[in-house]
Parts: sequence; C-alpha cells; structure tokens
Amino acid sequence: MSAPLLEIRDLRVSVRGDEGEARILDFVNLTVARGEAVGVVGESGCGKSTLLKAVLGLLPRGAEVETGVIRFDGEDLLQLRPEDFARRIRGRAVGFVPQDPFQSFNPVFTVGRQMLEILRWTGLPGEPPRTIWTSRERERARAALIEALRAVQLPDPEGALDRYPHQFSGGQRQRILIAGALAARPQLILADEPTTALDVTTQMQILSLLRRLARDFDVGLVFVSHDFGAVAQLCDRVAVMYGGQTVETGPADAVIADPRHPYAAALLACHPDGERPLVGIPGLVSSALAPPPGCRFNPRCVLAVEACRNERPPLRTVAPGRLVACVHAEAS
Ligand SMILES: Nc1ncnc2c1ncn2[C@@H]1O[C@H](COP(=O)(O)OP(=O)(O)OP(=O)(O)O)[C@@H](O)[C@H]1O
Ligand SMILES: [Mg+2]
Repeated sequence: MSAPLLEIRDLRVSVRGDEGEARILDFVNLTVARGEAVGVVGESGCGKSTLLKAVLGLLPRGAEVETGVIRFDGEDLLQLRPEDFARRIRGRAVGFVPQDPFQSFNPVFTVGRQMLEILRWTGLPGEPPRTIWTSRERERARAALIEALRAVQLPDPEGALDRYPHQFSGGQRQRILIAGALAARPQLILADEPTTALDVTTQMQILSLLRRLARDFDVGLVFVSHDFGAVAQLCDRVAVMYGGQTVETGPADAVIADPRHPYAAALLACHPDGERPLVGIPGLVSSALAPPPGCRFNPRCVLAVEACRNERPPLRTVAPGRLVACVHAEAS
C-alpha cells in the first residue's frame, strides 16, 4: 500500500496561558489516503478544530507541539517554517472549508473579487502567489474560478462572480467556499463542520458534493462533525476523539455498526436514528487544564475500572484497520 497522503502520529499539543498549561491534543492519530474521506467526531472541546489548525500551521499563540509527527505527502510539516506553510501548504496543497458560510464573506465586495483575491494569495494552480497579475493571469484565474464553481454545481458560474454574497443562499455560499478551496487544486481538503449553519436537506447536498469532489479530484478529505449520521453517509473512515485523544479509528460503517470504545458507543447512542431511544452522556468533557489521570473518559465511563484511572490506554488493533484505546476492547 502506498504511504498515506496525511499521517498524524501521537501528536501532543499544549497551550500555555494565564491559568497554567493545558494539553489540548494528547496522542492524536489520523491517516488520510488520496481520494479518501475521513470523519473526525467528538463532543465540543475535544480538539477537532485544533487538530485541523495544526495541519494548517495555524495553532493558537502560546500553543506548542510537544511530540508527534504530521507528515503530508511525504513531508514533515512540523519542520516547516511559517513562511513555507503560507507559501506552499495553507490554501494551496491543503484547502480549508470553514464552518459558517454566512460569516465567511465580506458583504461589500462581489464574490468574484473576493475569490480572485484568495487565488492571488494562494497562486494559480501550479504557480507561486503574485502580488500583481498581468491581464492574462487575471483571465486565467477567472477561468479557474468559473471551472471550480461549475464543479460545485453553482448555477450560472460566470454571472456568480459579479454578484454580492447576500444574493446567494447559505447552501450556495457554502458551494462557493468549497469552490474557493478547490480552485488552487489542493491535494487535501479540511472541512470543519461545513454544514452546521445549513438546513438538513442542504447539509446532505453539500456533503454528497464534498464526497464526489474528493473522488473526482482524488483529493483527501477530513470532515469534522458532531454528527455521526453525516459521517456515516460521507466518510470511508472515522476517527473518534475525546478530550484531545483519539479513542477509536476504523472503517466508518464498522465503527458505527459496532463501536468498541465506550465513548464512541455513548456518542452513537446520542444520535437519533428513529429506532433506539436517545441517551445522553452524563457529565461534561473534562477540562484540558486538569484532565483526569489515565483514560480521559474514565470519570464518565460506566465500564471504568482501577486500570482506567492509572494509565492511558494506547491505541491497539482490535480488528483489521480498527484501533481502539480502551482496556476493555478485545481483539476479534
Ligand atoms: N487559543 C487557545 N488557548 C487555550 N485553549 C484553547 C485555545 N484554543 C482551543 N483551546 C482549548 O482546546 C480544546 C479543544 O478546542 P477545539 O476548538 O479544538 O475543540 P473542538 O473539538 O473543535 O470543539 P467544537 O466542536 O466546539 O468546535 C478546548 O478545551 C479549548 O478550550
Ligand atoms: Mg471546532
């Protein structure tokens, strides 16, 4: 098997602030192949966005990578200088789709002007960024944008460039943002809850669009979500995070049908599928400032035993392609 496009191994990130030091990522593991969609799920505050920021070289001020590996297309991203992240990775080889299509545009400029500005900053596909474009380069950029808008199935792509953000619906704006990420021809797209601001039907359309684009363009996709149902529809594999740790990874259908980590099982039980009664998870995500020793989920886990309080269980293989960090997880 060829090397994964993105490989994150045992990543630990801490933030130093006024109240002390918080380890916000603690042994995170994730791999993404070309053309593969991987869902990252977990409750609010478990470190999903921080993980994406680490890949984009945008960790918050005061945050520090303690140990671990982030390898992208064979390159060690943790060795990159900030200017290389800006020049080659962020917005170029790695595209980003933000959460909120309503907040992501400036209302006073046309969509075309804003998208061209991004493309000038990221550079035309295969070319370095330019401060000033020649008229020919500008024409090529416009053509690349129209092509990307066509790929996301926005009606009248040429006309769209001359319109203002308020003239589009939320779903259309999200399509435009995805086109913006696609226009620089990235190898990997990171989407951080790209549909939470949209209604359910539009959500499904955007998700299937992302899925199709990842396949058509052979792009890896990391899809962050609270929603197991959306992940089930969209993703090949899933990584479940809790309290900054990866607690379970595996094929999405296998994990959803038969979660092996008690947190993954509890999270799934919160998801309405119309068949099972809804169950909440008692307690709150522990503070990253004072995490419990051992498995971070142990204070909320019905199966917790002494060993869970003493030692962090490592991710172990329990079935082909399935890893679980729980002392109770048996190999099958
Ligand atoms: N700049 C920062 N300084 C200190 N702590 C931070 C900072 N950014 C994030 N954190 C902490 O890191 C943890 C993970 O935050 P993150 O935003 O990655 O979670 P998330 O899983 O994306 O949550 P949500 O689902 O709400 O978006 C949280 O405990 C948060 O308080
Ligand atoms: Mg987030």
